[in-house]
Amino acid sequence: MQKVILDVDTGTDDAVAIMLAALSKDLDLLGVCSVNGNRGIEFTTENTLRVVEYLGLADKIPVYKGCSLPLVSTLTPGRRDGIPATGSMDKNNIHGDYVELPPATIKPQEEHAVFWLIDTLMKSEGDIILIPVGPLTNIAMALRIEPRIADKIQSIMIMGGGYREVNITPSAEFNFWVDPEAAKIVIDSGCDITIVPLDATHKAVLSLDDADELEKDGGAAGKATASFIRHRQAGYKIWQPMEDINTVPIHDALAVCAVIDPDVLQDLTSTYVDIDIAGGASDGMSICDIDKRYKDKEENVKVALSADKDLFSKMVKEIMCGQA
Ligand code: RIB
Ligand code: CA
Repeated sequence: MQKVILDVDTGTDDAVAIMLAALSKDLDLLGVCSVNGNRGIEFTTENTLRVVEYLGLADKIPVYKGCSLPLVSTLTPGRRDGIPATGSMDKNNIHGDYVELPPATIKPQEEHAVFWLIDTLMKSEGDIILIPVGPLTNIAMALRIEPRIADKIQSIMIMGGGYREVNITPSAEFNFWVDPEAAKIVIDSGCDITIVPLDATHKAVLSLDDADELEKDGGAAGKATASFIRHRQAGYKIWQPMEDINTVPIHDALAVCAVIDPDVLQDLTSTYVDIDIAGGASDGMSICDIDKRYKDKEENVKVALSADKDLFSKMVKEIMCGQA
């Protein structure tokens, strides 16, 4: 089994990602770290605890509370107007403050997520894949505190960024926009990085029919995933309708599936990616040099520009229905 660590800002799609990683027979989920993002850290931590407890895995999957603020992006006047908890950006309630699961009765571990990450990676055989699916604040902080972890991380599968697709601003994707400096630190770390951007996640959508199937055959995880699909689709059809209005992206779940079966990603290309940290109109933008227009820039990541929707929904159903 592949050892993985999830870093999340739970959120409805993070919740599906956690359930897939926890239930997959191919993955050994060592722990889940929460970070400020879709909501403030208290909410994202509570939501993460709800998912782990709902699965009945509280004694197997520890939750570690992480950073409550981006590194610096809320400090510059006018850049984020001091908004640390970006819940106010969730205008169409794609997530809600709390995921619709029973309130958690379990607590996060004592140790801060960043120090647990460093400790776990430094003690490892270099056989852990990180799967960050929220702002990259925790991962960047860990790299700054202990740069040697870069040699101990097997690879990083990031949900974030966009080549031709955006969501939170006309130029940026949410995870990279919340903490652009963190995204830049991670992308320039020299680690083996694959980025799963909106160009891929907007292809790997699940439908209301998929929700009905998951509710019928997917057990507890399937029922929860069905409710998250319906909740998300109600918001997306107003805020950012997909080609088929009855479908909705489950961004973070695709990053987990990509670790299980890389074939779910398509049009994967090694390229140079930079992140705009200038704080202006394109703040947090992921600049992907897909056409190799820069002459002097080394490729630093792999970017998936598409995804196999049918394989993605097949994987989700098989894992939720206990067949994979
Ligand atoms: O832009 C999509 C990403 O932003 C997803 O990770 C979603 O959970 C939000 O964090
Ligand atoms: Ca997320």
